[in-house]
Parts: sequence; C-alpha cells; structure tokens
Amino acid sequence: MTFQQSDIEEEYFRLSESEIFTRILERKKELAGRLLILCHHYQQDDLFQFADLVGDSLKLAREAASLHGPEFIVFCGVHFMAESADILAQRHQKVLLPHLYAGCPMADMATAGAVAMAYTNLVHAGVVKDEATVVPVTYVNSSAAVKAFVGERGGSVCTSSNAQRVLAWALEKGEKVFFFPDEHLGRNSAIALGIPSEQICVWRRGELLGGNSVEQLQRARVLLWNGYCEVHMRFLPEHVRQFRLRVPEIQIMVHPECSAEVVGIADRYGSTEAIITAVKESAAGSQWAIGTETNLVSRLQKQFPEKDIHLLAPIPCQCTTMDRNQPLNLLWLLDNLAAGKVVNQIRVPSEVAAQALKSLEQMLSI
Ligand code: 13P
Ligand code: SF4
Repeated sequence: MTFQQSDIEEEYFRLSESEIFTRILERKKELAGRLLILCHHYQQDDLFQFADLVGDSLKLAREAASLHGPEFIVFCGVHFMAESADILAQRHQKVLLPHLYAGCPMADMATAGAVAMAYTNLVHAGVVKDEATVVPVTYVNSSAAVKAFVGERGGSVCTSSNAQRVLAWALEKGEKVFFFPDEHLGRNSAIALGIPSEQICVWRRGELLGGNSVEQLQRARVLLWNGYCEVHMRFLPEHVRQFRLRVPEIQIMVHPECSAEVVGIADRYGSTEAIITAVKESAAGSQWAIGTETNLVSRLQKQFPEKDIHLLAPIPCQCTTMDRNQPLNLLWLLDNLAAGKVVNQIRVPSEVAAQALKSLEQMLSI
C-alpha cells in the first residue's frame, strides 16, 4: 500500500508548545462525542496526555472492536495498529493516524508476497503435502495483507499477551506452525510451551527454503520468520548480568520481543500492559530494570517515584517510528476534522479487510 503524508502548513511551525497543547484541548472539546483518541503505551508523554484510552496492542484492538459511538478514532500508535482498528471498527467509523509514516519496521520485514512464496516453497520442496497442514500465525505487528493471508488459511493473529495461547491452539490444529514476523516472540512462546529446540526452525527471508535443508524443515514443528524489533534487540544478556551484580534485589522484566537469551535470564516477561501491572502491584521501594521502550519506562518512573525503576539498557531504546506522531500532527489532524476535512484516514481495502477480520476474530475467540 502506498500513501503520502501531506505537508503541514508553515503556520503550525510557529506555534509554541503551550499553544499547541491548548488548541488540541479546544479541538477535543469541539469534537466531543464524535472523537476518541486511542494511544499505545510507547507514545511520548506530550501526546499520551491527550489519550481517551490507552493500552497494549490487544487491549486497543479489543477497544476498537467494541467502540460503536465515535465517528473518528484517532490512533496514536503505528500503522498496523490503525489498520487493525479500521478492520474491527464499524462501517461509519473512520480511523486516523496523526502521521502516516509512523510505521513498524518489524511489520515491514514480512510482506504478504514473501510469505506466500515461502508457503509455495514448502510444498514444492515436498516438506508438506499441501499448504493446509501448515497453520499460519501472525503477530499483530504485521500488515493487513499478511493478516488476510493468515485469515484465508484458517490461521490466527496473536499479540504479545496471548502468543503462547495462540501458538498452542495452532499446534493442536496443524502439523506445523509458521509464525511471522517476529522470530523472538515466536521462539519465546515455543520455549514456554516446551517445544524442543530441534523442532524450532528459523526461516531466513530471501534465502532458498529459508536457509534450511528439507530434513530440518520436515523435523520442525515451528517455523519462525526471521523478523525482529530493532528497539528490543538493544537489550542484551550482559545488561541483565550487570544489574544483577550491582543491585542483587533487582527484579528484571522484559518484553517478549527481546531475544530468548534475555528472556531466559530475566525474572519475568510480558506485554506492555503486563509490565505496567507488575510495577503497579509491587511494594514501595521495590527495584526494577525494565527491558522495553524508553517512553514507557520513563512514564513508569514518573508515575511511581516511590519505586526505583531503570531502563535495562544503558542506551536509549526509543521507537522512533512511533514517535513520528507529534502533538503538532495531532493538532493539524484535529483542525482538519473540525473544519470538516478528513485527513490521514487508514482504509484497508474491503476484500483484504474481510479476510484479515477472520484472523483477528480467531485471536479474539482464543
Ligand atoms: P504490546 O502489545 O505489548 O503493547 O507490544 C506492541 C509492540 O509493538 C511492542 O513492540
Ligand atoms: Fe515495531 Fe518495535 Fe516499534 Fe514495537 S517497538 S512498534 S515492534 S519497531
């Protein structure tokens, strides 16, 4: 899908931060009842403050599916999240993204064409008799076209909070599971289910048979597309070891997009929502090192000053593509809506949406 972010008029760049904030609040009042702003936990605070609802990918997908009222759903997150909201929304609702280039590089690592080609490869090489025996599972961080591919084949979407459950369901259903695009979430979920390493195979995109022999593929029960999140790859086992040596009481919790080496030695792992809950429920004075996106960790530090919270890595780990959504973009979008002009609408073509909906509904039913 191609799209182009329109230029914001020059007058916007002359506005001070406080003018931008005041005008956003004014627009929200004007559009009250017609507008809902959803916000992912990784957005920076100056945008997050305007959210009506916040959450992880699963919670926001569920909210989008249950909201029947507002005409405009502004999704402060990345492109795939807004696509999922559009697929799940009612027909009269319009889903808008403050900046059209707020995308997820991991989602872009698996195109529907490349995934379809991999399936054809498996059949041609005689690894499986037919495509139907390989159940596809896609992380919600994927395009609507990939979700549609999965829906057409009876597979399911998953998120970081239900990946293990969805994988277990898929393993019961088929001979093999093809998991994309995040190799690490797939491996962490497979390990948690007790799948032995010789039955887990990495499919290297762009390589013939994903860089595997026919025997390796025949033995495998879980095939993992080799996509990754550049932000979560910055957390290393040595960061965990350093914290443990310096602060023996530290509790280390990481997101399952981190590598299996990091997840394996952390105390806990979970989705952004699970991380927030764990910190919230911990006692005053407890010490945490968190392996996930910087904006969320610094918000936790501000929200819970009575706890000692650190980012697990000594370097910034920001989702810079999500951060393309700035308050200025939100104001520009709301100004346009208030003037009767819909900009930055995310519209999944109906034939793609119908198939993608099957894989999203499959997830919501598991
Ligand atoms: P959550 O579903 O845990 O919020 O994660 C989304 C995401 O993109 C993490 O990188
Ligand atoms: Fe994608 Fe990683 Fe950003 Fe999540 S943190 S939206 S996986 S790039």
